[in-house]
Amino acid sequence: MLARHIRVFGTLMPDAPPTPAPCPGRPHRARHADAQLEKIRKTMSQPLDAHRMHDTLLLFGATGDLAQRYLLPSLLRLQGDGLLPEDFRIRALALSPHDTEKFHEILRERFAHLGHYTPGPDQVEEFLARIDYRSVDMRTPASVAESVRDLVDRRCVSYLSIPPGLYISTCEGLALGGALKAPHRLMLEKPIGHDLASAREINATLGQLADEDRIFRIDHYLGKAAVQNLLALRFGNTLLEAVWNRTYIDSVNILVSESEGVDGRNAYYARSGALRDMVQSHILQLLCLVAMEPPASLEADRIRDEKVKVLRALRPFSAAEAERHSVRGRYTAGAIDGTPVQAYAPPDDSDVETFVGVTAHIDNWRWAGVPFHLVTGKRLAERSTVVTVTLKPVSHWLFERPDGANAAPNRLTFRLQPQEDIELGLMSSLAGPEWGTLELHPLELELSSQTGQNRRIAYERLFLDALHGSHALFVRNDEVEAAWAWTDSVTDAWRSGSSPLQDYPAGSWGPEAAACFLPAEFDAVARPSRDEA
Ligand code: BG6
Repeated sequence: MLARHIRVFGTLMPDAPPTPAPCPGRPHRARHADAQLEKIRKTMSQPLDAHRMHDTLLLFGATGDLAQRYLLPSLLRLQGDGLLPEDFRIRALALSPHDTEKFHEILRERFAHLGHYTPGPDQVEEFLARIDYRSVDMRTPASVAESVRDLVDRRCVSYLSIPPGLYISTCEGLALGGALKAPHRLMLEKPIGHDLASAREINATLGQLADEDRIFRIDHYLGKAAVQNLLALRFGNTLLEAVWNRTYIDSVNILVSESEGVDGRNAYYARSGALRDMVQSHILQLLCLVAMEPPASLEADRIRDEKVKVLRALRPFSAAEAERHSVRGRYTAGAIDGTPVQAYAPPDDSDVETFVGVTAHIDNWRWAGVPFHLVTGKRLAERSTVVTVTLKPVSHWLFERPDGANAAPNRLTFRLQPQEDIELGLMSSLAGPEWGTLELHPLELELSSQTGQNRRIAYERLFLDALHGSHALFVRNDEVEAAWAWTDSVTDAWRSGSSPLQDYPAGSWGPEAAACFLPAEFDAVARPSRDEA
């Protein structure tokens, strides 16, 4: 099929663009970035208390993979851009019996091999001078209290990058040590719990220890600029709003594929699996942004009110529906980009999936009858996050009658990773009518958006917002519970029905039966009729 590509404006925004070079004559975009940074710095220096940033981070799980790979490097970069308060301090906390010197050594080594970013030695030393380390037993509230007590006369944000099973004892310890009283704040990594019951227990305990407006539940997808652009596109354009409903939209696909495997996270993953790890959080958040009603304002709670309505309107799964509308898979050995990779071998007899395809329905006026195909998997052919909105076919096709062989529905494609771009698929005539029959061909309009200074790692933006006290990009307690309620309906349906795990070779697009959940552009995969999904 012949397709024309037209770039409408802007340049493509890579996932993690390099830091602008600090030298004269640098490109226009870097100067634009500087202006943006200056604006942020000015807001930070306003004397109003509301603008005063919190100045102390209590980082629990500081030796873990997330902290080492993303959290501490994000803070290092914020420091490099002058976006942290001058006297910002970090207390790193974990079980390992290190001392501060040893922890600094580990970080020096880590920062020397970040790959996407090479900080200068002065910058690293300035950052390390802000950090001290304490060994703590998070199962014991008294140990947690002891480890933070000397800092609670500052404005603290406690960050829990630890297994959710330790949330309650750690928060009890923080409360005991005085680190959850106002104005202190709490940031929690996903997942909040393992299912609805455990999420409720965590939320209820937190609710007794800290006000909801001082709790920041993280879904790092909300910190990605491309994800925030979904809102901008939906609510900044009359054109889209006019067709954004069941009358014009045929289906929505949300795909988050990863070429990475489970590697190194076996203990967590063997209890979680793809549905709980990715769908319950990131994919349902994307679905909310696509499906929510326009909020009355950009105030955090107005956005979160609309998201929670979508989550509550998700139709729960029954066992019969799970058989027809979902597929679970687990990768076997294969190859990614020609490199052989091993099968996923979970410990014990874990039944978890590394791939899930599921069709969700939102039972409300706007979306009645529109399937939302949600797909995610590890060790798939490539890393890609794509939201595809397919419109209904033209109601009366005039061209190439009677077969309309070239007809393709209009399609809006938001590519969020690894590159950010937006593509609008239209139909257009290639040859002038004077050459004979009016024959239509697909025309792809590339609408790449230039968003200026994106924070390079989603966590950078989230740290800034939490230090400032802005909630819009964080998940509220009722959202988490509504997402678990639907996710539990899927896992319960799997348990009570017959939805066996299907193998797929690493490097493929999942089990064969998954083809009908994938967006149409994955034509290489054998695709049964979409009605079957
Ligand atoms: C995490 C999941 O929340 O998100 C991981 O626990 C997953 O399993 C990761 O790999 C994906 O994030 P990103 O930003 O790389 O798409």
